[in-house]
Amino acid sequence: MTTEREPRRSRRALVQKLQAQETALRRAPESLAPARPTFRALFPDAADDVDPDDVVADELREIPDGRPWVVLNLIASVDGVTSVGGDTSALSHGADKAMFASLRAMSDAVLVGAGTLRAEQYQRIGLDERKLMARRKRGQADIPRLAVVSRKAEFDLASSVITGGHPLIYTTEGINEMRAMQVEVVAELMRFPGDKVRALSILSDLFDRGCAVLLCEGGPSLASELFNVDAVDEVHLTISPWLVGGGPAGLFPGSFSRPRRYELRGVLESEGVLFGRWIRRRR
Ligand SMILES: NC(=O)c1ccc[n+]([C@@H]2O[C@H](COP(=O)([O-])OP(=O)(O)OC[C@H]3O[C@@H](n4cnc5c(N)ncnc54)[C@H](OP(=O)(O)O)[C@@H]3O)[C@@H](O)[C@H]2O)c1
Repeated sequence: MTTEREPRRSRRALVQKLQAQETALRRAPESLAPARPTFRALFPDAADDVDPDDVVADELREIPDGRPWVVLNLIASVDGVTSVGGDTSALSHGADKAMFASLRAMSDAVLVGAGTLRAEQYQRIGLDERKLMARRKRGQADIPRLAVVSRKAEFDLASSVITGGHPLIYTTEGINEMRAMQVEVVAELMRFPGDKVRALSILSDLFDRGCAVLLCEGGPSLASELFNVDAVDEVHLTISPWLVGGGPAGLFPGSFSRPRRYELRGVLESEGVLFGRWIRRRR
């Protein structure tokens, strides 16, 4: 009896185990996938479950003559602090990363200062399938090209963000020749006269390369230079729900040549984080 019953019981147990495994596998993609942050619109109209990809892509952008439309994306604590312990990781979480990805997905190029590249954990720019398809539909390259501004070009040339995309490096004629040769193995080096690269020279070069929408991810020094030549057309400021203290008096170092008026275009909220969007009012 036992000899007949045992196999039947173990067969039933095996079937139950396989069924449990199948159910777990069917559930796995959902439970293993990172939870997608839910955004709601607060302004101009209230709406639940809005997609930041759509919000960002739907903005009407009038590309200026001779330079790209410049979008600046920054994050700050409630008290205006832009980095904690040398980078933004303490301020930026899931919802901000989702907005970050949406902004990258609609841009032709991403511009950063060398200070940001050194401080932040920049990885190869990659976009999910949906964003990739949307870019192809709009006739854009699969990923936005990275452009870095730097006098010294002293950052990790072996990092995936450099090796994975043949970035543009905007530098001055004063760059160390040995360093320049190393950079030219993995990137396209653009040298400009003077002790710093003029912001408008960068924008004009990017425009000539077909960049219509440029996303600047900072840092504050580079953003100030763009503001000073009145070349920031759209500002995305994420307010992270932290009071940090001890920060600089403003988001940007130094003072601007003059204040410039921006028009509030939209406010989103997700996970207690606020996302403001302003457009430069030029008339
Ligand atoms: N809260 C945010 O959204 C946000 C965003 C980005 C960065 N950050 C934080 O900001 C900090 C870095 O700030 P930062 O203002 O120093 O960064 P940055 O603007 O990214 O970098 C400054 C550096 O960029 C290069 N550079 C900028 N303008 C140049 C020009 N016209 N010509 C030639 N080179 C130029 C110089 O690099 P060389 O030194 O190579 O000459 C300069 O030292 C980090 O702590 C980072 O985490 C915060």
